[in-house]
Amino acid sequence: MPEPILKVTDLWKSFGGLTAVNDYYLELPLGMIYGLIGPNGAGKTTIFNLLSGVLKPNRGRIVFNQIDITQFRPDQITRVGLTRTFQNLRLFPSLSVEMNLKIANHIHLYYSFVSSLSNLPGFFHSEREMQKKVDTMLDIFGLTQYKDELATNLPYGLQRKLDIARALMTDPKVVLLDEPSAGMNTGESEDLARLILQIKEKFRLTLVIVEHRMPFVMGLAGIVQVLDYGSVIAQGTPEEIQNNPQVIEAYLGTGDTIA
Ligand SMILES: Nc1ncnc2c1ncn2[C@@H]1O[C@H](COP(=O)(O)OP(=O)(O)O)[C@@H](O)[C@H]1O
Ligand SMILES: [Mg+2]
Repeated sequence: MPEPILKVTDLWKSFGGLTAVNDYYLELPLGMIYGLIGPNGAGKTTIFNLLSGVLKPNRGRIVFNQIDITQFRPDQITRVGLTRTFQNLRLFPSLSVEMNLKIANHIHLYYSFVSSLSNLPGFFHSEREMQKKVDTMLDIFGLTQYKDELATNLPYGLQRKLDIARALMTDPKVVLLDEPSAGMNTGESEDLARLILQIKEKFRLTLVIVEHRMPFVMGLAGIVQVLDYGSVIAQGTPEEIQNNPQVIEAYLGTGDTIA
């Protein structure tokens, strides 16, 4: 087995008396779509907050691409190639679709700008590169015709797509998607699933997708991990997970759909 691109061991996080994540582990193989599911409140978003540096764990270790990132700031984590989207969208509502993408590219542009003080052609080159990248994202995500619209005026499904496009502007190797199909109807979420497969191939991504509704992730993921009360209760292929009695038990009475 090759080294996983992301390896998490013995991760814990508590808020006051509540242990939201306990002894979480993950070995994420390069190029995989990995599903992380579990009822509401299971600790899925908290795990993403830990992996992306938004929260610091009480204990545990997070190694990305052989670099220990456990104590890294969120911007440092983005820079090494790990990025995430938020369950609640974090777009700039009163900026255009195109500007939302350009701002996401900022950390890269900033560094090329500094290096360009002695190399102006290099700067213009990187600005052209950025525009090319923006145009590519607009095209792939079907947003070209909306590029001058304010983000807030987009239909909700397109706002969610824009949020993923923004994440890709930082050239990630690994992308964590927190409930990407939330608020979408069946047609929109099937369309999004196809898009996720397409961007995975095009940008050679490894993805972790969080969902509390199972069907979306079951069609996409190679391996699914199930979380309940902050602990991993099962891990396996979608078929194994769907037939696991412990998983069915965890979902019973939550109102969440298992299949
Ligand atoms: N910043 C926080 N402060 C206090 N409690 C939190 C915080 N974030 C999450 N929690 C609690 O941790 C548990 C897990 O939450 P969360 O990770 O958001 O679950 P999920 O994403 O699986 O629905 C919940 O009980 C939630 O109320
Ligand atoms: Mg959540």
